[in-house]
Amino acid sequence: MERKIPTLVLFLWIFSGTVAADYVRPQPRKTLDFPSERKASSYPQQVHISLAGDRHMRISWVTDGKSSPSYVEYGTSPGRYDTIAQGESTSYSYILYSSGKIHHTVIGPLESNTAYFYRCGGEGPEFQLKTPPAELPVTFAVAGDLGQTGWTKSTLDHIDQCKYDVHLLPGDLSYADYIQHRWDTFGELVQPLASARPWMVTEGNHEQERIPLIKDGFQSYNARWKMPFEESGSSSNLYYSFEVAGIHIIMLGSYTGYDEYSEQYNWLKADLSKVDRGKTPWLIVLFHAPWYNSNYAHQGEGDGMMEAMEPLLYAAGVDLVFAGHVHAYERSKRVYSGKPDPCGVVHITIGDGGNREGLAHRYKDPPPEWSVFREASFGHGELKVVNSSHAFWSWHRNDDDEPLRSDQLWITSLTSSGCLTEKRHSLRKILMAP
Ligand SMILES: *[C@@H]1O[C@H](CO)[C@@H](O)[C@H](O)[C@H]1NC(C)=O
Repeated sequence: MERKIPTLVLFLWIFSGTVAADYVRPQPRKTLDFPSERKASSYPQQVHISLAGDRHMRISWVTDGKSSPSYVEYGTSPGRYDTIAQGESTSYSYILYSSGKIHHTVIGPLESNTAYFYRCGGEGPEFQLKTPPAELPVTFAVAGDLGQTGWTKSTLDHIDQCKYDVHLLPGDLSYADYIQHRWDTFGELVQPLASARPWMVTEGNHEQERIPLIKDGFQSYNARWKMPFEESGSSSNLYYSFEVAGIHIIMLGSYTGYDEYSEQYNWLKADLSKVDRGKTPWLIVLFHAPWYNSNYAHQGEGDGMMEAMEPLLYAAGVDLVFAGHVHAYERSKRVYSGKPDPCGVVHITIGDGGNREGLAHRYKDPPPEWSVFREASFGHGELKVVNSSHAFWSWHRNDDDEPLRSDQLWITSLTSSGCLTEKRHSLRKILMAP
C-alpha cells in the first residue's frame, strides 16, 4: 500500500528543490542466496510470459530434462484445461555450462482482461495469468537494471503490490555476467511475477556476454527471453514492437547496429510508419543507454544512437522514452535535440531496480535545462495510461523497504496537444520514405 505522504513529499520537493534532505540513502545489498534444490527432470522452472502478437501470449519455461514436452494446457477455470498448444524448445552451451531445455509456447487467441490458468508440459503446479485489457485504461510497471540482490527483492515486492497489466524492462535483467547459472536463479526469482503478467524486456549491456572469436553476444538472453520480434516484422530478438490497448510500444537495442544503414534503423522506420495514432494514440519507446542523462555515470554513451535515431522518434511524435543503464532516476521535460521542446519526448531513466553495482550518485551541476527531477535511489515506476490524452506517471523509491512515491505527474499525449501538425507529417513523410 502507498503511504499517505506523497502530496507532502511533492510539496517539499517543489519548495526545497530536493526531496532527500534528511533521507539517508541505503547501501547496496548483497546478492541473494539461492539454495540449490533438485527438481524432477520435467518440472517446469523459471516460468515467464510475454505478449506474442494480437491476443496471444508466449509461455516460456525451463526443464532439466531434455525429453520434456513443450505443450501448455490452459483454460479460464482452475484445473480445467480445455485448450492445449504445442510449442518449440531450444538449449545452448556456454563454455562448461549447458542450459536446461528452454520451452516457448504461444497460446491464444485469448480474451482480453481475463484470468487464465495454465500448466507447462503436463507437469508441476498450475500458474495463473491475466491478459491486458483491450482498451484504456492500462497500467505498466517499469523497472530496469534489476539484478538479483536484496534490493531487487524489495523492488519486486513493491511491483507485486501495484495493480499492473504489463511489466516493461529497459534492459539489464540478471547480471549473470558470463556466470550462466545466474540466469537460472534470476528466472526463479522473477517467476512469481513474470508468470502472472507479461514481462516485455529489451537488452542491456549485461545481456551481451560476448567473448571475442568464441561467442557472439546475447546467446543466453535470446534463448531464454524470446520476445515477439517475428510477430512485429523484425529479424532480431534485440528490437521489436507490440501494442497494448491504445499504446504502440517499441523496444530498441542499444547494443546492436543503429545507424541509418543498419537493419534496426530500417525496421524502426517501417514500424513507425505503420503506427496509426487513431488506433494507438500513445507511442512509447524503450532502450537501455539513455540519451538524456545528467549523471556522471555512463555520460555520453547513448549519443551515437541518439544522433542516428532522435529525428525519427521526433518526427513520429513519440510521447515517452524509458531507458536504464544509469543506476538512478531522472525525468526530463519534453525535449528535442538537447533543448526543451513542447512537442518533444519525455525521457525517463529508470535503471534503479536494485542490482549489485549500487547507485550512481554524482550529477552534473547545475542540471541541464531539460532535467526536471533526478535522484539516486532504488525503486520502480508505474505508468497508468488513463485515456487517449492523459497518463499518470509515478516513481516509487524503496524507502526502508516501503514504496514511497517520490516523483509524479500527469503527462498529456502529443496526439491531444496539437503537436502532430502538418509540418510534422511532412517531416515524417521525408524521414520514413522507404
Ligand atoms: C482523460 O482523463 C483525464 C484525467 O482523468 C480527464 O481529466 C479527461 O477529461 C479525460 N478525457 C477524456 C476525453 O475522457
